Amino acid sequence: MRPLLHLRGVEARYGRFLALQDVSLIVPEGAVVALLGPNGAGKSTVLRVVSGMLAPARGEITFAGRRIDGLPDHAIARMGLAHIPEGSGIFPGLSTFDNLTVTAGGDRSGIGRALELFPILAERREQLAGTLSGGEQRMLSLARAVIARPRLLMVDELSLGLAPRLVAQLFGTLAAIRARGASILLVEQYVGHALRLADIVVILSKGRVQFIGEPGELARKEHLVEAYLGRAAGPKAKGRRAAGPSPRD
Ligand SMILES: Nc1ncnc2c1ncn2[C@@H]1O[C@H](COP(=O)(O)OP(=O)(O)O)[C@@H](O)[C@H]1O
Ligand SMILES: [Mg+2]
Repeated sequence: MRPLLHLRGVEARYGRFLALQDVSLIVPEGAVVALLGPNGAGKSTVLRVVSGMLAPARGEITFAGRRIDGLPDHAIARMGLAHIPEGSGIFPGLSTFDNLTVTAGGDRSGIGRALELFPILAERREQLAGTLSGGEQRMLSLARAVIARPRLLMVDELSLGLAPRLVAQLFGTLAAIRARGASILLVEQYVGHALRLADIVVILSKGRVQFIGEPGELARKEHLVEAYLGRAAGPKAKGRRAAGPSPRD
């Protein structure tokens, strides 16, 4: 598979604080990559440097073969790279429906499809997006991604604070987005869901990549799972516990 997104030796800073050191990773075309690791590891920062919210201090980022580090965020978005940030990804001051029309632009055909996936959003169409429940806001952010049809969807903590049934539904939507040919870079605390969907797992800790490989390979490396992801993600975890958040959170 060709690399769609390629980070090479990326360093990122917040002032003097070094948040990412020598981060290299690939999202192959059509693949789902799960970016996992403890709080403060730098996961959200990876998404921020890719989408242009934060300029990397060093390193190279290419998307579909073009250098994107240093480009403004809107130019990167226009290339087909969508970023749903943690707890956001909507316009809170617009109605639910206007959030969808803004995304759809002149082509309204995707709006019906998005509302079919999340019928509750049709019921809430006139409501200000900022007053939707947490789960409805996440649905709306994903609905916007369905309409935009990005080549790469980056989603940060989609499941944070949501009930398990809703999380399962949102992961089903991610699988559908992927089935239509999009690639996905996923930051998640629900390690069980992420490992089931992902082709490749990247573990980040203290701003450095600790592991890159397939989920099955990670499951055999119990020490890594225990050190970075908590026991709930481990190979001995069964059933519902495996789908739950790690005990660190
Ligand atoms: N705006 C900021 N200013 C200063 N430090 C920040 C800022 N955002 C994040 N950090 C720090 O950078 C590190 C990585 O943060 P982040 O990428 O949000 O981690 P994660 O998403 O893995 O929890 C953390 O130590 C965090 O405190
Ligand atoms: Mg984060």
